[in-house]
Amino acid sequence: MNQDLIDPITKEPLLYYKDYYLNKNNNKYPIVNGIPCFVGPEFDPWFDHNLRRQELAESGVFDETTLIEQNYYQALSSKNVYYQPYNKWIQRILSNPGSILEIACGPGGSFIPLFLKNDSDRKLIVNDLGFWILEQWKKLLSNIHLDSNVLFLQFDACNTPLPSSSINLVNSHAGFSNIPNHMDALKEAFRYLRNKGKIFLAEGEIDISIYNKLPQKAKTQIEEKIGKENIEKGMIDKLKEVGFKITYSEIIREITLKPNESTIARIAGNFGKKMILREILIEAIKP
Ligand SMILES: C[S@@+](CC[C@H](N)C(=O)[O-])C[C@H]1O[C@@H](n2cnc3c(N)ncnc32)[C@H](O)[C@@H]1O
Repeated sequence: MNQDLIDPITKEPLLYYKDYYLNKNNNKYPIVNGIPCFVGPEFDPWFDHNLRRQELAESGVFDETTLIEQNYYQALSSKNVYYQPYNKWIQRILSNPGSILEIACGPGGSFIPLFLKNDSDRKLIVNDLGFWILEQWKKLLSNIHLDSNVLFLQFDACNTPLPSSSINLVNSHAGFSNIPNHMDALKEAFRYLRNKGKIFLAEGEIDISIYNKLPQKAKTQIEEKIGKENIEKGMIDKLKEVGFKITYSEIIREITLKPNESTIARIAGNFGKKMILREILIEAIKP
């Protein structure tokens, strides 16, 4: 599946050849195993294969293929309570026509399994900064014959190869908040979305009222971890700042973070407080 693409740096249109995309200075962006790559290994946070294998082994998973398969079937399992609150949300996203761009799909794969289960003809453009993630999702979807309408693109969400006003729908599940400079990624989304195009986010945000009650020492430690701006401003404020109009939002669950699972919870715990994470669904439109 081909897509009109631009150079992420110069923003000039790229020419497609069989194995690469070319800009007018003859710089090539390679297509590796069917995946156009717009970032080099030095920008791929998962590039160290040995480290990745070690992390997988420590979490008891045999290899990358097994991990992605496991995540795919878990997302589809009716027993998986984690995905249940998303059912209506996924129907809401799919009720909009057009292709869906998935930002930072991660090993978890966001809602890709559920999008394809509900609408196997939907065109999906699947992104991450990590090449192996895209490679393994592509392999899995190809094995189960669900890949014919899916394009995988390795790029930095803050600097994309997507032409301006070219995308109908953007989705992300704990994706944008995990991109260190995600204001840039939101600005970029505003650029490549068409007018009336929509962005759908499922993101976790810490409970600001608990944070406010912490002593200054704890606040400083948390700020050092996730940045003051990210505590004081939630995704709704950030989307508005970029120019989006919020059309829907809903808190779907609150989770008490365990100190052994989260640094923020550990810091709050040291000062006698339990930290709560709210999961929020947000739909916004480019007016
Ligand atoms: C926590 S995961 C996202 C969760 C995932 N969407 C899910 O549903 O499980 C974070 C992902 O963001 C990716 N990422 C980080 N920075 C990025 C960027 N600038 N552009 C695109 N992806 C990025 C990482 O490679 C990683 O796979």
